[in-house]
Amino acid sequence: MNPPSLKKNRSRRRFCAAGGLAVWVGALLILAGCRSETKQKWLNIFFDGVPPPGATNAVAAAGTTTRGSNTNAVEQTTVATAMPPPAFKLVETNTRREFNPGTASFHPIEAVGKNVGAPSLIPPLTVSSLMTCEDCHNNDQGPGNGGSGPKGPHGSAFVPLLERQVVLTDGTPYNPDNFALCYKYHSSSVVDSDQPASWAFHRKHIEDYRAACTTCHDSHAATQPHLINFNTTYVQPLNGALRYTSTGMNHGVCTLTCHDGSGQNKPHNATVY
Ligand code: HEC
Ligand code: HEC
Repeated sequence: MNPPSLKKNRSRRRFCAAGGLAVWVGALLILAGCRSETKQKWLNIFFDGVPPPGATNAVAAAGTTTRGSNTNAVEQTTVATAMPPPAFKLVETNTRREFNPGTASFHPIEAVGKNVGAPSLIPPLTVSSLMTCEDCHNNDQGPGNGGSGPKGPHGSAFVPLLERQVVLTDGTPYNPDNFALCYKYHSSSVVDSDQPASWAFHRKHIEDYRAACTTCHDSHAATQPHLINFNTTYVQPLNGALRYTSTGMNHGVCTLTCHDGSGQNKPHNATVY
């Protein structure tokens, strides 16, 4: 049992808390009654990037919709076009475990990455740099993408909550804008090339075969080196084997069958690169 004086103290605290709450509710009611310009100014003190009154959502205005729509009393918002997630050969749905430094390869969130070289990295990034989820998952209209919208992974025109576009499916005629998020950090002129220091067959696969980055790479992590994790929608086993073996930086062996952009199957029978 608490001594009576303490009890009294506690109820006084409760009373003060209730009083404080009443002041806040009052303040909010007053704000709600203000002209919308003033209200926006006030809300801006507490929240980042409150849209000006009458602003419409750029995505809605552009009319990109199919995945679903989210209607509320204030404005109608549409969300990005549906794109199936890559059907990776090796699946790890626990994101925390994915980025575990014990994994064979990973984008460097928890620890510095394992590649000794990544010629495509755009300075000042180096193989010792670290990154955060928000470097990739962010509002597409925020400062990370050169916009003046709020910062943070709240919503985006690009699934799944990506700051910039990543086309997750094969078959689209090559356009660097399709992989804008990857090219934010990796030079497109290095990746989309025949340079053996990156991968001598990148250009052929990306441009000629119209393969998406995610057809071969997992954007988070992989239980194989160099973030290689095939999307089985496009990459299938050859005589029962779907295999990638790294034999060191820029060298490996692939056993698989893939499409070449024109619907033809290309078998790689233990193809060495
Ligand atoms: C290098 C860029 C990058 C980073 C860093 C990144 N993501 Fe992703 N993430 C992607 C891309 C691209 C996709 C879509 C392709 C896919 O599903 O693999 C994705 C998909 C997802 C998905 C949906 C599908 C899935 O794999 O579960 C979730 C959830 C997710 N990310 C959460 C996170 C979290 C949490 C972090 C930080 C711990 C993070 N991501 C860091 C690029 C990134
Ligand atoms: C057909 C499969 C395939 C596709 C598609 C593909 N890659 Fe690669 N990528 C590889 C292989 C294989 C390597 C070399 C791994 C090794 O042996 O070191 C590689 C290496 C890399 C590297 C490390 C070397 C460097 O240049 O820094 C980066 C980064 C990279 N890829 C990014 C991308 C991006 C971005 C895309 C999409 C625009 C893409 N890849 C599409 C298979 C692919």
